Amino acid sequence: SLLEETSLPLYFGWFLLSSVQVKVGCTAMDFLKTLDTLEAFKKHIADFAGQAEKEVDLEQYFETKETLHCTTKFCNYGKADGAKEYAKNPVVKKSYGSVFSLSLTALFVTPRTVGARVSLTEEQLQLWPADTEKESEVGIPVSASLPVGSRAHITLGCAAGVEPVQTGLDLLQILTLPEGEAVEEMELGSLRYYGEGRWMLSLREPICAAACFSSFYG
Ligand code: A2P
Repeated sequence: SLLEETSLPLYFGWFLLSSVQVKVGCTAMDFLKTLDTLEAFKKHIADFAGQAEKEVDLEQYFETKETLHCTTKFCNYGKADGAKEYAKNPVVKKSYGSVFSLSLTALFVTPRTVGARVSLTEEQLQLWPADTEKESEVGIPVSASLPVGSRAHITLGCAAGVEPVQTGLDLLQILTLPEGEAVEEMELGSLRYYGEGRWMLSLREPICAAACFSSFYG
């Protein structure tokens, strides 16, 4: 029925509690502020700015997001494949409204997006759809190598005109590349460069983020 069709959300996911949103947002801002001052970053500045430009302000470059969350299932109000099945899953129903502790293990930046990698526990993986990392889904060859849940992330910001769905694709792309060269030891962890403006900072201390499993209707 029409009611059933429209009662599915835009997406399900873990929504960071508000105090945690501030903490994660500030950590990301500090990272961007430091990254664009590093010589290693400036060496590859053409990835982000025109050839002639010597500097880029990453804080301005990205439009930061308000409701920080880690999408589990994008349902598109029921139009996305597997949306109805996901919503009916007993684990999804049972977990709805519960608070989980997410582990943020890395921050990554590309010319399109900035995000945080989320490393899911076995329990959290029960809420993760099976086909999210499939090649047919993401359009890049991730051939069997990436474990389920690899795409889990929080979109922190997007460059002008870029849709947030890009963040997960950027993360998967980084994960399929050979480990980048370690360019800098930062206070937060070690920074690696993966070419074409792709940077990843593995956090020395993962950020523990309390988040409520729920859905967004928009
Ligand atoms: P993400 O999870 O990377 O942040 P939008 O505002 O574009 O409708 O997106 C709403 C949310 O759903 C965002 O969090 C976004 O990306 C996610 N999303 C949008 N499209 C898709 C998709 N095709 N597959 C997976 N997640 C999506």
